[in-house]
Amino acid sequence: MLIILNHKMNLTIKEIKAYEEAIRDYNVVLMPQTPYMGLFTNGKYILGSQCISEYNATGGVSVDALVHLNVKYVLVGHFERRNINRDTDEIIKFKIKELLKNNILPILCISDNEENNHLSLINQIDNVFKMNEINLSKILIAYEPINYIGTNQNINLNMVKEKILFIKKYITENYSTNNQVLYGGSVNSNNVTELKELKIIDGLLIGSASLNINEVINIYNKINN
Ligand code: PGA
Repeated sequence: MLIILNHKMNLTIKEIKAYEEAIRDYNVVLMPQTPYMGLFTNGKYILGSQCISEYNATGGVSVDALVHLNVKYVLVGHFERRNINRDTDEIIKFKIKELLKNNILPILCISDNEENNHLSLINQIDNVFKMNEINLSKILIAYEPINYIGTNQNINLNMVKEKILFIKKYITENYSTNNQVLYGGSVNSNNVTELKELKIIDGLLIGSASLNINEVINIYNKINN
């Protein structure tokens, strides 16, 4: 199972240096704040990026810089960015094309309210999967129910199971490809075993719990033992 650690805008330079030393032997995907990315060169970890810019101007993050840093994964369409209108449907499509052209794997984040039907998820998937001339099988999906992002709630496992199975089935039936589907939202060392035991989740996208190195090691051990 892929373990993706999304630091968002957290940790000081001192904290991130200690974190980097502690995580060197772990096979996880790390997404530190962009200014810290160059510190991650010495470990078994894989580097990912929280973003790439859709423009070529002051303040952006270029795909070339990510390639040179050996970045393997980039988040696209995270709910927090869709919500402030930074990742619109058009921008998401542009970023995914750009990443695939440069052999970086996009993680397409899709979110809904748990009580919704599947319409919103279908729209978020179709927006990207209807594009021509891209290798759809290279896209990873991260399903994140809105109410669980950053809230550290008890996860409704039946809901997670239903949504992940729906996403997998919908993509296979409509686009004839089997994409990896990850789960994100309130994941921590207390619920990770139950999520693993569902046996349908290909990875975890972890925010708050990723900031505490002991918590990360606990999660890693529970997933890998
Ligand atoms: P969380 O964040 O683990 O703090 O819920 C998940 C995310 O934002 O991807």
